[in-house]
Amino acid sequence: MSKGWNGRAPAGRVAYVDGRYVPHGSAAVHIEDRALQLGDGIYEVCGVEAGTLMDEEEHMDRLERSLREIEMAMPMPRNALKLVMRELVRRNRLRDGLLYLQVTRGAVRRDHPIPKSVPRPTLILTTRAMNPEEFGKRRREGVAVISRPDERWGRCDIKTVQLLPNLLAKTAARRAGAYEAWLTEEGGMVTEGSSTTAWIVDAQGRLRTRDLSNSILPGVTRRVILEAAAQAQLPVLEQAFHLDDAYAAREAFISSATGVMPVVRIDGKPVGDGQPGPVTRRVQELYSLTAAERAGKSGN
Ligand code: PDD
Repeated sequence: MSKGWNGRAPAGRVAYVDGRYVPHGSAAVHIEDRALQLGDGIYEVCGVEAGTLMDEEEHMDRLERSLREIEMAMPMPRNALKLVMRELVRRNRLRDGLLYLQVTRGAVRRDHPIPKSVPRPTLILTTRAMNPEEFGKRRREGVAVISRPDERWGRCDIKTVQLLPNLLAKTAARRAGAYEAWLTEEGGMVTEGSSTTAWIVDAQGRLRTRDLSNSILPGVTRRVILEAAAQAQLPVLEQAFHLDDAYAAREAFISSATGVMPVVRIDGKPVGDGQPGPVTRRVQELYSLTAAERAGKSGN
């Protein structure tokens, strides 16, 4: 294992870097990689359940779109990339966890403009097992969030590796004993969580999340929930909400590739009766049902 890596990689863990499956502990990229020096890269995180990659096509769509927005092409054809993703899950014998995928503009002498002669992009994939007990507990019991000012840039719809404002907000949350930070614009409208989509169940019992724009990431889990909720005829509203609406909400939750988690406290105030609510439970149920269906359809 290389010096400096202390992330407790289990023996035998495998990463994929630039065309090769390599031991996780010694996987490396060049020091002049543009993602390292300039944050010039895009990433995706896919959930893995029972050894199956969830919502692969949606993640591929978003990856392609993010890359296009920063004037990059896919590093390899989509089908080839899907094969690499599945092979990495297989080599790591991953049952439940996450697959991380990053594409950077490649290694080239440091200079701000996008290079005229395009370097070979760097493609990195890793997997990580999730502790089912830890996540199960959060999904059952719910989590606390705090609000923080949204200090990110104007293109939050692009899934770039530039995550400093996100990680500062998340750190503030953890230091305050909360799990996530809900980011708010000047005036108090909630955009999203630092790495999750924010939802409330409003006073009318409607499921509510912000509409898509440059201000938020178009969450894959968000889309799956919206579709499942529409099918189940739950009332939904894609409209921004204020932090005060969140304080007054009947229920709240967050969603991401790590699943759907009830939010039971916001800024120290209990949401509803301070327990995960029935609509959130229903969304969790719908989400795992469609997850099973979606996994069945993908044929892997
Ligand atoms: N985060 N909003 C932000 C800012 C995110 O970073 C994420 C995902 C989401 C939810 O998107 P999805 O449902 O597609 O996972 C919303 C990933 C998990 C991460 O950064 O680790």
